[in-house]
Amino acid sequence: MARIGSDIKYAIELLNQQQLVGIPTETVYGLAGNAYDPIAVANIFKVKERPSFDPLIVHSSDLTRIREFVHEIPEKAEELANTFWPGPLTMILRKKAIIPDLVTSGLETVAVRIPNHNDTLKLLERIDFPLAAPSANPFGYVSPTTAAHVNKQLGDKIPYVLDGGACTVGIESTIVSFDGDDTTVLRIGGCTIESIERIVGKVKVSPHSNSNPMAPGMMDSHYSPLTPISIGNIDQLIAHNLGKSIGILSFNKVYEKVEDSHQYVLSKKSDLDEAATRLFTGLRHLDTLNLQLILSEYVPGEGLGRAINDRLKRAEAKRN
Ligand code: TXA
Ligand code: MG
Repeated sequence: MARIGSDIKYAIELLNQQQLVGIPTETVYGLAGNAYDPIAVANIFKVKERPSFDPLIVHSSDLTRIREFVHEIPEKAEELANTFWPGPLTMILRKKAIIPDLVTSGLETVAVRIPNHNDTLKLLERIDFPLAAPSANPFGYVSPTTAAHVNKQLGDKIPYVLDGGACTVGIESTIVSFDGDDTTVLRIGGCTIESIERIVGKVKVSPHSNSNPMAPGMMDSHYSPLTPISIGNIDQLIAHNLGKSIGILSFNKVYEKVEDSHQYVLSKKSDLDEAATRLFTGLRHLDTLNLQLILSEYVPGEGLGRAINDRLKRAEAKRN
């Protein structure tokens, strides 16, 4: 297993030697390596078993450093950066040659963000390269929101996980791209569409799937647990699945007909932010119980609810 600890200096030493480190962010944990170094980047794809056509996000600590590896930043992007960075927003910008093609799967653009986590910001300030970091899960599985999640799944392949506690947002960043005057959300995530629209006006929301060439990695079946999951009205789903060993991932309620230990409530007080922080932990937990089926339901489609529903839909798409 990897070592888990809070030693930023040690993490830096490893990164300087082309090695990979699990890093905390406010969204999910990342599997980080030197974004300027094709060897470190190739290793990220290998450890994650990620297809090379699925580009990575590059993380930096400030806009001045970002200008070293991207061309012009559109005005709307700059406004969003000033409002939401550091934070759960990733922007697609035109890359300079210093970013290896491997990072962007050959695209002319690079995905960039400043994460909002003190330890990782400190780490980023002390190195002289940005960090390429996808979520630190094996390709296609639920993203990790604690250092222990990372260790469980990738611990035998990396030397160190920097432990920064449980992620405070719990769902991946929102990804936006710019084309002329248009702003398009390519992945719904931790920065709400409502808050983005308050800054740049109406945005397009492009449902991402593997048929979308702009976002080659955004497969329908991402974020999946291994146990099949059905989404709908939970009472009806229970009635339809009598006799099966089932688990429940509910928004706010406990169901009498199902064993308590097989139930995971996202937010008893119906708080969507809390629900987002608990979503992946809940899916992981239910996935360890060896059940035949997980039943779940959509949450209200506002604020972080849209991102939660997006992830639930993708989890369902995998096995059904
Ligand atoms: O919250 C997050 O964004 C986390 C943390 C670690 O920062 N990272 C994350 O990375 O979720 P990952 O690799 O799991 O997802 C990155 C997504 C992929 O679906 C990829 O297709 C998309 O970003 N992406 C990367 N570069 C792109 C580009 N140039 N154009 C369009 N989509 C891009
Ligand atoms: Mg991911």
